[in-house]
Amino acid sequence: MTRRWPVDPDAIVGAGIVVDVFASDRPPTRDELAARASLCDAIVSSVADRIDRALLDALPNLRIVAQAAVGYDNIDLAACRERTIVTTHTPDVLTESTADLTMAILLALARRVREGETMVRHGEWKGWSPTMLLGIELAEKTLGIIGYGRIGKAVATRARAFGMNVLTASRDRNAIERVLAESDVISIHVPGNDSTRHLIGAPELARMRKDAVIINTSRGTVIDEDALVRALVNKEIGGAGLDVYEHEPRVHPGLIDRADVVLLPHLGSATREARARMASTALIDAARILRGQTALHPIPDSGSR
Ligand code: GLV
Repeated sequence: MTRRWPVDPDAIVGAGIVVDVFASDRPPTRDELAARASLCDAIVSSVADRIDRALLDALPNLRIVAQAAVGYDNIDLAACRERTIVTTHTPDVLTESTADLTMAILLALARRVREGETMVRHGEWKGWSPTMLLGIELAEKTLGIIGYGRIGKAVATRARAFGMNVLTASRDRNAIERVLAESDVISIHVPGNDSTRHLIGAPELARMRKDAVIINTSRGTVIDEDALVRALVNKEIGGAGLDVYEHEPRVHPGLIDRADVVLLPHLGSATREARARMASTALIDAARILRGQTALHPIPDSGSR
């Protein structure tokens, strides 16, 4: 299937820069990426492209990796820095879309949307019942947000509009403990990196209330998936809503058949609006570097300018 870009790349980069679009709806394999980009001066990458030393060694002309995403855990920043390759990303432009999806998962969990949908489609619905698929009301419930950056704040705004109380925590361990212990719903919005790997493991899940649910639209590595499945099986927590996975696109087999989880295929930024802005933001930075200008959105701490 041909991937239709949400923007016209040639119009964005302007004259003098030739754009080679990988016109497929799947990401390129490593070999395809290495072969197609072997003579490129810039690449616009996605979260599905692993940009590591081996790949960089195959791309001798490369001057910029422009990541069309806010997260960049797929890129070896040290290897880019050593080769003086600039790295950029696309913050801000997908904040609202990702916050919207977080609310979609929150509502789906609270009102058991997936179970109701399945019941109707499978012909299992025999008529209205006073006790069928009872969920919870959001008003007056507590949403705990771990990672109070751009997306965490946008989720808080939405949750307050639903009448929820919001607790927040970023790096402070005591604040995280309080969020874990006091929230009805916990939503994770930290970046994926070494310091956040398994931030939520068995001890943290054990601190949650037994009826609380956890949502992750950030990076799968933040939650220890084995521990999550154990906590669900042992009824230590009430449920989970995941858009990201520890070993994407593989999903832990212990999650697949559970009624108390909502599973989505990494759709956080998957709106027409966000994807168009992500593509143009990344292309503009790629073109700027190729023209000898500084990047508008260098990856923080990457040393890029
Ligand atoms: C998506 O996962 C992103 O980081 O933009």
